[in-house]
Amino acid sequence: MSEPVTSDTIKKIETLRQALHHHNYRYYVLDDPEISDAQYDRLMRELVDMETAYPELITPDSPSLRVGAAPLEQFETARHSLPMLSLENGFREGDILEFDLRVKRFLKTTEQIQYTAEPKMDGIAVELVYRSGRLERATTRGDGVNGELITANVRTIRTVPLVLKETHDREVPPLLEVRGEVFISKAGFRRLNAERLQLNQPPFANPRNAAAGSLRQLDSRVTALRPLEVFFYGVGMVQGLSQESHWDILCSLRQLGFRTNPEIRPNLTIEDVMDFYRRLDANRHDLPYEIDGVVVKVDKLPLQLQLGNTSRSPRWAIAYKFAALQATTRIVSIEVQVGRTGALTPVAHLEPVKVGGVVVSRATLHNEDEIRRKDIRIGDTVFVQRAGDVIPEVVKVVESQRTGQEKQFRMPATCPVCGSRVVYAETEVAVRCINAACPAQIKERIKHFASKAAFDIDGLGDKLVEQLVARKLVGSYADIFHLTAETLIGLDRMGTKSAMNLIQAIEKSKRIRFSRFVYGLGIRHVGEHVAKILANTFQDLNEIQTVPAEDLEAIDGIGAVVAESVAGFFREEQNRITIDRLLAAGVQTVPDSQATGGPLNGMVFVLTGTLETLSRNEAQKLIEAAGGKVSSTISRNTDCLLAGASPGSKLQRAQELGVKVIDEAELKKML
Ligand code: IVH
Repeated sequence: MSEPVTSDTIKKIETLRQALHHHNYRYYVLDDPEISDAQYDRLMRELVDMETAYPELITPDSPSLRVGAAPLEQFETARHSLPMLSLENGFREGDILEFDLRVKRFLKTTEQIQYTAEPKMDGIAVELVYRSGRLERATTRGDGVNGELITANVRTIRTVPLVLKETHDREVPPLLEVRGEVFISKAGFRRLNAERLQLNQPPFANPRNAAAGSLRQLDSRVTALRPLEVFFYGVGMVQGLSQESHWDILCSLRQLGFRTNPEIRPNLTIEDVMDFYRRLDANRHDLPYEIDGVVVKVDKLPLQLQLGNTSRSPRWAIAYKFAALQATTRIVSIEVQVGRTGALTPVAHLEPVKVGGVVVSRATLHNEDEIRRKDIRIGDTVFVQRAGDVIPEVVKVVESQRTGQEKQFRMPATCPVCGSRVVYAETEVAVRCINAACPAQIKERIKHFASKAAFDIDGLGDKLVEQLVARKLVGSYADIFHLTAETLIGLDRMGTKSAMNLIQAIEKSKRIRFSRFVYGLGIRHVGEHVAKILANTFQDLNEIQTVPAEDLEAIDGIGAVVAESVAGFFREEQNRITIDRLLAAGVQTVPDSQATGGPLNGMVFVLTGTLETLSRNEAQKLIEAAGGKVSSTISRNTDCLLAGASPGSKLQRAQELGVKVIDEAELKKML
């Protein structure tokens, strides 16, 4: 039985709550507490005691509820009044400059646009709805239209105001939908995982997973124990808050008691945005939380309104993502792959993790030595890194996350594909399958042969090569030139038209630049660069096939290992036979000097709009055949913009930079 409620009791409870809301705001939002943690705890205990005595006085916005409520069976869903859109991504400076041009074009203005730049938090998007200043409900983003109701969980987050702050000159808005990102700081993540290890629970792979897992707990008492935080960055539906700009909104949110990111900068030109991005990219490791880019927003709200949205994202904002990045995740298993030269490469299968905006689920471990050196074990939590288009790699193990359950990895004694013995060469770390007829090696050799930088056979992709090798239709790359449309039509997902196209592409590839030919042979240690050196030194195959290693070594840029590898390759009878078969099938090499001495030698082109007779692809091929290069973004290094009908923003950019603009007829003249 609870005691009778008096007006004094009500007042006392209300005073306690207000004090706790206030100190919460000072501590979590302003990072400037007025009382000690112990004093805060005492106030909280007093409130909890009173609420225990008078349970009928508990209100949903009581700060005591931050400890969580009874568990749910499942989450209900709720519709957002305004959809929660996503952001368009940009990865290069050019993407952001184009965004700026697009904004201006859309607004039909040449004047500078003012932007706000914000760190892009790597967490979970949420929407909180406040009516008359009280937190009514909270939802995840979900599919953007409907989200999951996670109100009890969100109430436990200390940085979430349960009641909005009124100021002397402003009443709280009757309706405020506010949006933000829930996250766990790097330090919070470390502490949380340390605790989990002590309790024999599996650690979280990274702060984002930890935040997502914590926010989607059916038992909010569990959520309450997790170090969740939030930064608010925008609003949904709002009544009673008239603003001019995004920055004004952020300032109002802060006054109302919401925590906003102190790194946000208003009033920026697009060049300032670039500086902001570079600075943040350089300093991101010092930030206490993980970010994955910069969000650039047109500041003025009337302009935002004019720009509107596409179906997926607002036209007034873009996410400028950071490129190379590390993230932590766990190694689920280690698989051994066999490459085209027979080298066995251990590859880690990972719990999928976003690295720089791309989901990574595999990473190379290079070789056994590397695994030993880094002491990588199956089950380990590791840092993975992705730099540009390079294959993701495991940088190091997070040793503090070891549970003792991790397993050592051993390289197999036989090839995992063909079962042949593997050899450990003394001079190198790689372990190799020495069976040249190993299907894995054949497959990789053929993929390499057909790749863009080699024979560039359009349509001969990985899946097709796998089928061709599995059915023994192709055993060496010379067999490619004996394929017929009839054979191809019998394969999975291969219609008459694709078969004909492929035969045509194979036919076209027969005339090939010498350096590409040499590269395509797949000689160990001969990448594109070495292939070019060789092609510039030797006139043709006859010469190159008979050169002794000593002579090769005398060439500038070729060392002993490469020299021996090249000479060894041509000594091998099987390789000579394959090359003879290539030539017999009609493969013809063109000296590089002829191919690169074309009329557009060294010129950089950018293409835009619809051309009159050529497709863009055809135009690109013509330009490249004449020694030119085609790039996708305009810069001061561009020599010509080839513009067709409806040229888009590139035309304006070219004019701004003083880049020469030509049409198809002019290109043909140049050719
Ligand atoms: S604004 C319609 N600002 O990025 C635009 N989003 O890829 C609404 N995010 O779902 C987003 N930090 O979860 C905005 N400062 C920030 C952000 C941010 C992180 C997330 C957000 C959104 C996702 C879009």
